[in-house]
This record gives sequence, structure tokens and C-alpha cells, in this order.
Amino acid sequence: MADDRQSAMFMEGPYEPLMIERAEGPWLYASDGMRILDAAAGAVVVNVGHGREEIARLMAEEAAKINYVVPIWNTPARERLCARLARWTPPGLNRFFFTSGGSEAVEAAIKFALMYQKMKGRTGRTKIISRWTSYHGNTLAALSVGGNRNRRKDYEQVLFDWPHIPPSFCYRCPWGKTYPGCGLDCAEALEAEIERQGVDSIAAFIAEPMMGATGGAVPPVREYWPRIAEICRKHEILLIADEVMTGFGRTGRRFAVEHWNLAPDVLVGGKGLTGGYMPMGMIAVDEKLVAECERLHADFMFYTYSCHPLACAVADKVLEIMERERLIEHAAEIGARLGAQLKENLSGHPMVGDIRGTGLFWGVELVRDRASRTPYPPSRKITSQVIGAALKHGLFVYPTVGMAGEAGGDGVMVTPPFAIGNAEVDYIVRNLRTALDETHPGAQ
Ligand SMILES: Cc1ncc(COP(=O)(O)O)c(C=O)c1O
Repeated sequence: MADDRQSAMFMEGPYEPLMIERAEGPWLYASDGMRILDAAAGAVVVNVGHGREEIARLMAEEAAKINYVVPIWNTPARERLCARLARWTPPGLNRFFFTSGGSEAVEAAIKFALMYQKMKGRTGRTKIISRWTSYHGNTLAALSVGGNRNRRKDYEQVLFDWPHIPPSFCYRCPWGKTYPGCGLDCAEALEAEIERQGVDSIAAFIAEPMMGATGGAVPPVREYWPRIAEICRKHEILLIADEVMTGFGRTGRRFAVEHWNLAPDVLVGGKGLTGGYMPMGMIAVDEKLVAECERLHADFMFYTYSCHPLACAVADKVLEIMERERLIEHAAEIGARLGAQLKENLSGHPMVGDIRGTGLFWGVELVRDRASRTPYPPSRKITSQVIGAALKHGLFVYPTVGMAGEAGGDGVMVTPPFAIGNAEVDYIVRNLRTALDETHPGAQ
């Protein structure tokens, strides 16, 4: 095991290294006999839960039929997936492009926007506006639109010089205002930035409908997305909703944009699409925009592993399972219970600044001083300490770091697989409380 860790670059976590041998439902089983409730669903991926025999059988059957086809040709699995996805995605977003993961899909969305604007003759539209406190992936264009300062810092010298605006984030409102009655500066910031840059230079706006890995599960205020959509439409700027984390049921709806009846031009997906059984990402694009590009014979280069037949088959099966077991409805119901219990049991804790979320997408922000909302110094690595303490009690929650910008910001996300019941909710909340109690005395 020690040799393995030496050969896998930078793959050690900040906690005790673990060898996970088996996983089933929401549970992970480690080689030392420990059972861990995976309340992170891996990296917010395993929506349908671990160890489903039905998917394993399908994978064996499909792999025996077709292992690879060049992406210009169709396969039965791909046809099934596209037909099903068209019923899942918002109306009109029924042209799909598949990738191996979320970052590649964000790249594809950005490239589509740049290509579309060029096709329309708006050749100067070369910038993408995005938001601070966001995460869009690890490749260079995805990192360029990303708003996690710590993750950007080693690459600033090569990132695209594209504008960022502050997010809708009431707990840390950059304008120091209180909702309602704040004038929605967070949405108006987009209009102001477009004016500052010049509308003829902007191709698209990209954002997570609810901030995930960097913000810690932050739903925006109710009026935010409708106003953003209006601004984008007015200026013919494409609206890209990055639903890599929030998509496929995570927030209690198929996609988070449904909370506001929002119709983006491009929707980005990944993670829950295959529930972690295969690597896959996707973009769903408005058919009218694709048709315009096709009429002009635009070329959109595929990746070698675009539309991998096995990934397509798995994604179709994962979505079918979610439909058959009504897992999204369940996520909404059990998620409401999880949120209520987190608030009841943790909100008075001296480390807990804010608890927010919806569906099975919850964030607990940790602060040194609750009254002033002062974050812990990043050097204390409080998130790692809490996660380490929780693991000792058989619980894994997901880290979220950076929501306080240059000052840091710590938190954990509680995003379990959907097929959990009351007993698992009690287990999560009880053990997270214990982890906070054990971390707090030394945490200043
Ligand atoms: C919103 C969002 N977009 C994109 C990505 C990148 O996805 P991947 O890690 O699969 O490349 C992530 C990953 O966490 C994400 O949360």
C-alpha cells in the first residue's frame, strides 16, 4: 500500500490514508474493518448509492458487446441515453455532447459559446464572465472562470484574463447589505460588468445555480436567477448553468435551474449523471443554437472518449433507476428532514456560522467568531480537522474551503446518496456534532 501511495501523484488526503475495499448503499468498508457512512457521496457523485448489482451486470453485458466506437457513429446505448436525457433536461435543451468528466464539459460549454458568437458574426465576443467563490473544474479554461482564489493562485500567470463578479451570497454579502430590500446588487453586478467590459466583448456568463465546492451549498436569493437570465437575453450573452454538482436530483429537482423555471442556453452536467459508476460529463445545448451552427457547417471537435458506449449505457441505467425508485422525490423529502435536523442540532454550536442548502445539498460554514462571521485562519486547516474527527466516528462529509475569499473560509458539505432513511440522517447529524465538539476546544 505504501508503494502505491508513492506512485499515485499528490493523491494523499489531509486525513489518515484509507484503503476502501468495498462499498454498498451509503456505506464504505475500509481494509481495517471500519464502516464509514459516505455522507459526501464520494465527491458529490454517487447519487444512486454504491454497489448496485444491477449496474455491475449491465456493465459486464455492454462491455462484451461494444468496447469503443468512434464518436461520429451512434450506438444503441447512446441513442437510449439521448432519448432519456431529452426528457430530463429543460425544454429545448435536447442536443448533447459527452465528455469524460465535468471539467472537460465546462471547456466544451465555453468553446460552444465562443464558436456560437463567432458564427453569428460577433467576432469580438471572446470573454466569459463568471463569479468569485465558484468552482468549475481543473483544466485551464475551467480554472480561468473559477473563483476559488487558492485553487487559481499557482496558475494566475497563464489563466484567461476574464472578468468575475461577486456571487449571490447573503451570509457574506460583498455589499454588506441584508435581503430583502438590498436592491439585488449581486444580479445588477452582471449588468454593470457588461457595461464596463463593453457588451461586444462578452460571449457568455457561467455560474453554478447554487454554489457548491467553494461556496458550500449556497442557494441564491429568489429573484437572482430570473434577473440574471433577463440581463443575458437582453445583451445576447449565452447563459451557461454549471450543474456538474447540483444536477441529476441533488437539490431535490432534476436540475437546480428548475427551482426558478430557468432556461439556460447551455447546461453542464457530470458527477450524478453516471453516479460514479463510469467517468462522464455532458453539455445539453438549446437545439435552436446548435441548428444555427450546423447550418453554417461549424465544426465541434470531439474527444476520443466522447459518448463512450459503456458510459452511455451506465448513465441511461442510472437515470432509469432514479425514475423507477422515485429517488429525486425522496431526496427532496429526506433532504428537508436532514436540513431541519442539522439546524436543530448544530446551529447553536460555537463553530457553526451558517447552515444552508436544499434537497440533499447542505453546507455547514465554520467560523472562529459567530458574531463577526470571522473565518478561521487558513493555516489552522479547520475543515480537515473536522473531517478527520468525523472519520474517526465512521462519517465522511465533503470539504468546502474558500467561501471567505482571500480570508479563507471553512466548511463541510453534507451530500449523501439519495437512498438513505431516517436512521442514516440521525447518524450523520449525531456524528457531525461529535466531530465539531471534539474539534472545537483546540480550534482558535
Ligand atoms: C460545479 C462544478 N463544475 C465542474 C466541476 C469539475 O468536474 P470534474 O472534477 O469531473 O472535472 C466540478 C467538480 O467538483 C464542479 O463542482
